[in-house]
Amino acid sequence: MKNSAERKRLAIVGFGGRGHIYGEFARRYPEKFQLAAVAETDPDRRKDAEDNFGAKVYADYREMLSSGEKFDLVAIATQDRQHKEHALYALERGYDLLLEKPVAVTEGDCLDIYRSAERNGRKVYVCHVLRYTPFYSAIRRLIDEGVPGEIVNIHASENVGYYHQAHSYVRGPWRNSVESSPMILAKCCHDMDILRYLIGEKCVSVNSYGSLSYFRKENAPEGSTQFCSDCPRSEECIYNAQKLYTRYIWPAGYFTKGELTEQNILRDLKYSPYDRCVYRCDNDVVDHQSTVLLFEKGKTAVHTMTAFSGEIYRDIKIYGTKAEIVGVMEDNFLEVRPLGGKAYRVDVNNEASVGGHCGGDYYMMLQIWNAMNGRPCEGITYLDVSLESHLMAFCAEKSRLSGGSTQFVRLREGE
Ligand SMILES: NC(=O)c1ccc[n+]([C@@H]2O[C@H](COP(=O)([O-])OP(=O)(O)OC[C@H]3O[C@@H](n4cnc5c(N)ncnc54)[C@H](O)[C@@H]3O)[C@@H](O)[C@H]2O)c1
Repeated sequence: MKNSAERKRLAIVGFGGRGHIYGEFARRYPEKFQLAAVAETDPDRRKDAEDNFGAKVYADYREMLSSGEKFDLVAIATQDRQHKEHALYALERGYDLLLEKPVAVTEGDCLDIYRSAERNGRKVYVCHVLRYTPFYSAIRRLIDEGVPGEIVNIHASENVGYYHQAHSYVRGPWRNSVESSPMILAKCCHDMDILRYLIGEKCVSVNSYGSLSYFRKENAPEGSTQFCSDCPRSEECIYNAQKLYTRYIWPAGYFTKGELTEQNILRDLKYSPYDRCVYRCDNDVVDHQSTVLLFEKGKTAVHTMTAFSGEIYRDIKIYGTKAEIVGVMEDNFLEVRPLGGKAYRVDVNNEASVGGHCGGDYYMMLQIWNAMNGRPCEGITYLDVSLESHLMAFCAEKSRLSGGSTQFVRLREGE
C-alpha cells in the first residue's frame, strides 16, 4: 500500500481485546491507518500482530516508543491501572494518543495525564465510543436541529446484562475496585460522557446511591460450592458458568486457548477464576447504582446502572420543551414524540464493519482519522472534556460511598 499523507501510522500498546479492534480497523482500511508497531507482553498476541497484521512487534513498550520511529497515533489499550504509566511515557516522547477509557483510575492520575498532554502540546483522543455510535450521533443531530427544543432533563439506563455482570464484574477483570476501578468509572464513564455531550453544559454537582446487593456470600444457595464444575445446584442456577460461557460465547475469549469451541471453552473453564460461584468471589463493585446530575443551567439527568437485565442495552429518554426523544441504543431507531403532536420514528443507519458498541468502535476510528486529516468530523472530544466526565464519575463514587452526599464537580485544581 502506497503511503499517502492521509495514511496514518498507528502503534498500539496492548494487543488484547481492544488493541485488536484498532488493528482490525487498520487491516480493513489500510488507506487510513497502517499498523506500524505493537508492544505486547504476551508472546502469542505478539505473534498474531506480526503474522496477521504485519506489525513490527516489541515486548517492551518503552523500546517501541523510544525507537525514534514516527507514529501519528499511539493507542494505549492496556488495563485501566496501566494507562497512567503508558500514557505519560508516550506523551513525554511527543506522541498523540488514542487512550482507552478510563483515562486513569484516580482523579490525580487523570490530572497528571492531562497536564502532560498540555505541557507537551499533544492531542489525546479518549475512547468514549458511545458518542460515535450512529444512535447517539442521531440524537445529537436532532438536538442541534432544535427538535426537542431546550432539553430539560434526561433519564438514561445502562443495563449491563446479568451474564455480562457475572463475567466482567463478579468473576472477571473489573470485579474489584482496588484491582481495577469502581463501576461508575469502569463502565459508566461512557454514560457520564454521553450525558455531558448531549446536554452540552458542564455538570456542577452529583448525588449517587448504590451497592453490591446480590453477588454476595449470604445469597449463595444452600449446598452450593466454590466452583460451578462441582456444584450440585448448578443445574438450576442462572449463573452456572458452563451454561453461560457456552451460550454467550464472547466472554469465553478471556480464558480459552485456541478456537472458541464448546470443547475448548469447557476444558479451560474448569477450576479457572471464571468457574467460581458468583456468590463466592472477591468482587466488591456495585451491581446497581443511580446517579443524579445537576448541570450548569439547571438541567438535570438521572443515570441508572443495573446488573439485572436479561440483555445488554442502554436506553435513554430526553425530555425537551418541544418533544421527547426515546430510544434503545441496540434497536438502531429513535422515537420522537412532539408535545401535542404525532410521534414518529427516526431510523439510524449503522454500517459499521469493525468492532462492536453498536458501531461506536468503527465510527470512532473513522472520525479520528477525519480529525487527523483536517476533514469534517462529528463527536470528536479531547482530554479536557473527558476529564470532566471522569470527574463526574469520581464525584459519583465519592457520593455513593458517603451515603449520597452532594459532590461538586471541580473541573480544575483550585476552581
Ligand atoms: N472503549 C471501550 O468501550 C472499552 C471496552 C472494553 C474495555 N475498555 C478498556 O480497554 C482497556 C483494555 O481492555 P481489553 O479488554 O482490551 O483488555 P485485555 O486484557 O484484553 O488487553 C490488554 C492487553 O495488554 C497487554 N499488556 C499488559 N501489560 C502490558 C505492557 N506492559 N506492555 C504491553 N502490553 C501489555 C496484555 O497482555 C493484553 O493483551 C482497558 O482499560 C479497558 O477498561 C474500553
